[in-house]
Amino acid sequence: MDKPTNISAPKGKLGILLPGMGAVATTFMAGVELVRKKKAVPVGSLTQMGTIRLGKRTEGRSPKIKDFVPLARLEDIVFGGWDIFPDSSYEAAAKAGVLDPHHLAAVKTFLSKIKPMRAAFDHEYVKLLDGKHIKKGRTKYDIALQIKRDIANFKKTHKCSRMVMLWCGSTEVFQKPHDVHSTVEKFEQAMKKNHPAIAPSMLYAWAAVTSGIAYGNGAPNLSVDIAALQQLAIQHNVPIAGKDFKTGQTLIKTVLAPAFKARMLGLNGWFSTNILGNRDGEVLEDPGSFKTKEESKLGALEFILQPHLYPELYKTIHHKVRINYYPPRGDNKEGWDNIDIFGWLGYPMQIKVDFLCRDSILAAPIVLDLVLFLDLAQRAGMRGIQEWLSFYFKSPMTAPELYPEHDLFIQLMKLKNTLRWMVGEDLITHLGQEYYD
Ligand SMILES: NC(=O)c1ccc[n+]([C@@H]2O[C@H](COP(=O)([O-])OP(=O)(O)OC[C@H]3O[C@@H](n4cnc5c(N)ncnc54)[C@H](O)[C@@H]3O)[C@@H](O)[C@H]2O)c1
Repeated sequence: MDKPTNISAPKGKLGILLPGMGAVATTFMAGVELVRKKKAVPVGSLTQMGTIRLGKRTEGRSPKIKDFVPLARLEDIVFGGWDIFPDSSYEAAAKAGVLDPHHLAAVKTFLSKIKPMRAAFDHEYVKLLDGKHIKKGRTKYDIALQIKRDIANFKKTHKCSRMVMLWCGSTEVFQKPHDVHSTVEKFEQAMKKNHPAIAPSMLYAWAAVTSGIAYGNGAPNLSVDIAALQQLAIQHNVPIAGKDFKTGQTLIKTVLAPAFKARMLGLNGWFSTNILGNRDGEVLEDPGSFKTKEESKLGALEFILQPHLYPELYKTIHHKVRINYYPPRGDNKEGWDNIDIFGWLGYPMQIKVDFLCRDSILAAPIVLDLVLFLDLAQRAGMRGIQEWLSFYFKSPMTAPELYPEHDLFIQLMKLKNTLRWMVGEDLITHLGQEYYD
């Protein structure tokens, strides 16, 4: 597409709609409110804390990203969403157990007012959950129309000038794209005929896109990653992005693997295992949901290491990923990696990583950056898949003929160059010959 000529200013309120108001969503909302009240710092958020270098290294121009591109202000955000449980966001946050009592107490009034709308849900897609706070309708199409009405009502009630939807719901069972996902006509017919290949997350995505609202997917299930919805996104001038937040173990993987490849070190095997005890962990106990997550986590290494280009180094990699539901840890996941590498003359070496992370604490700033960047993209006239947001995803969506870029630092360079390009600044190539002329 052509460079955006004029990015409209972020006037008025930005409505953020979250299908799935569990641990990640409530930690995100609580965090934004704590930052707004100046009781916390938005650590982990590139939009709030990051800077961007402009021009030559000698110019000393490095504004904050939020001062460089016209992002919505945190003060102008309002929140809403859907869940299969009727708990207010305060109750859901308390159950999730991510935040300490003093943080929860500071946002109790705020979170208590955010109550989920009834969800579009199908037990076949999340086998280990059952909730009663769900929509009823004759067909999936009827339910999708109800979501559209929810969106319109929310917009009116909260006087939003713009909205963004980001899937923070549970991981749905593994599904390959089906013929009914291939065109808009087939997809809409299938919704009307209650076709089993239409997942609830696709109903939200369809409702968002056809309402002209940007949509991102934080989970590994397909959702908007199907041809029909991508065509609709182009038709409705809507940016879309996904999938699966790159938070803990995969973040580290996409930092280490490029380092091995950069130094031409070989890899024999990578064993990743996790214990976690939150609801996400419980849902991932179901083999169907785990398979979706596994596929998403396994993809990165193959694409980064390119075994077809480096067969002596990466032809046979034993890559395994395990996730174990272990309630005592709650949201505080422990991710172990055992990495078997080899060096000069093939001598083996090992690296062990033990990441005692906090899932939702890592995910919340990603949610914030994604909604702000999707809103920016829409105001800049960008539509369809936003590959420059790959930085935030384990399994980045791309045009069908492309392979995804997984290397975190290439992703960051792409993101920052996209911001420079949007505003008409020179792109930074890191060539640097001009300093020595
Ligand atoms: N936290 C992380 O580090 C991380 C990283 C990558 C991806 N994710 C993904 O983000 C999603 C959210 O994670 P979480 O830890 O908040 O999980 P969670 O279980 O705490 O929250 C998910 C919520 O979605 C609700 N839900 C399920 N199906 C729904 C539907 N059809 N409509 C509306 N609500 C629905 C559930 O009731 C639950 O409250 C999961 O899919 C997870 O795999 C999380």
